Amino acid sequence: MNLLITDVRPYGGDPVDVLVADGVVRSIGTGLTAPEGTEVLDARGAVLLPGFVDLHVHLREPGGEESETIETGSRAAALGGFTAVFAMPNTSPVADSDVVVEHVRRRAEEVGLVDVHPVGAVTVGLEGTQLAELGTMAASRAGVRMFSDDGRCVNDPLIMRRALEYASALDVVIAQHAEDHRLTGGAQAHEGAAAARLGLAGWPATAEETIVARDCALAREAGARLHVCHISSARTIDVLRAAKAQGVRVSAEVTPHHLLLTDSRLSSYDPVNKVNPPLRTAEDTRAMREALAEGVIDAVATDHAPHAAQYKDTEWQAAKPGMLGLQTALSVLVETMVEPGLLDWHGVARVLSERPAEIGNLPDQGRPIAEGEPATFALVDPDGVWTVRGAELASKAANTPYEGMRLPATVVATVLRGRITAQDGKVVQ
Ligand code: DOR
Ligand code: ZN
Repeated sequence: MNLLITDVRPYGGDPVDVLVADGVVRSIGTGLTAPEGTEVLDARGAVLLPGFVDLHVHLREPGGEESETIETGSRAAALGGFTAVFAMPNTSPVADSDVVVEHVRRRAEEVGLVDVHPVGAVTVGLEGTQLAELGTMAASRAGVRMFSDDGRCVNDPLIMRRALEYASALDVVIAQHAEDHRLTGGAQAHEGAAAARLGLAGWPATAEETIVARDCALAREAGARLHVCHISSARTIDVLRAAKAQGVRVSAEVTPHHLLLTDSRLSSYDPVNKVNPPLRTAEDTRAMREALAEGVIDAVATDHAPHAAQYKDTEWQAAKPGMLGLQTALSVLVETMVEPGLLDWHGVARVLSERPAEIGNLPDQGRPIAEGEPATFALVDPDGVWTVRGAELASKAANTPYEGMRLPATVVATVLRGRITAQDGKVVQ
């Protein structure tokens, strides 16, 4: 099947036509004509970017199908411009064996809307005490290239050290949910003025900073690749900058919500704002934006965390942490980074596609837009404006913190290896 995309602007540049054959870009130019039978996608001046890659999503299957399934999560991903996602292992059963990661991979291939890369657990059952079979998962048909106990920190330094040593030997990456559980004690709000006023126990920023410092030291020793999930505190950025300057193989992600939202939202006690790590201060969001522009933070990852109403529409203490993210990621990035002039479209491609593909070791994603390269794209209308309605999102759950907000930029279409997976807000299956 051939595809001709007309009047599209690569990285926001001059309009061109892009002819795709067999999933690969055949030619780029103006006034291109296509052989009979070619599907034509009139892009009407949309910005053409490499397909987005999300290093951090929760698809909930197996075991949490009341909140999300691989199918509903894949639909949300395609609608959000994503062509690859990494699915976290905190499912039931936990993805700590070749059987579970292969099941996730196979189910995602049946759905076929987005490349789903299962993340393997670092420890058996996410219990933090016994290393999982990393080598078996890496060698499985799922080809696991990232391991994480996300939702929990690999808190024991000896277990983390061993995990990094294996990761170095296997050439995979350990993605750490950096939270010293001894320091947070299960608290669920940023330790600061807002939490104090509301009488909520505080999750101190130092619980993140100290784990990142420790893990950078361990990664250096092991010669391993460390990825830090959802950075939330300005102080963590200083640790990362120093480690990178010393040649530690460390990368980091920030979520859209930690770029935009602060703990000032906690005053409503609405658990839709409850997330781990917690929303922090305006100073922290400012520091996140600057570090992302500078490249100290490598990537934007959504931490898409759907929770069915019975887990979210309850009192603060009982509610589960997490927010939807896949369909709002681009818009929040445009609002926080593009409109203020901190990133141009090349920068968006870098943080939403190129760097995540490198970190996740995906050779056919995050590629330049050029002849001979995979036709894997997100097409974006930078002038589009939309109002977020949780009930209208493709996810099974509706826990978006952006309910009712008007956000800039819409996804016009998503293309995976030459096949349109979403167009004008609808999934193409
Ligand atoms: O808010 C969060 N939700 N943070 C995590 O680390 C886990 C995630 C989830 O699984 O819901
Ligand atoms: Zn996490």
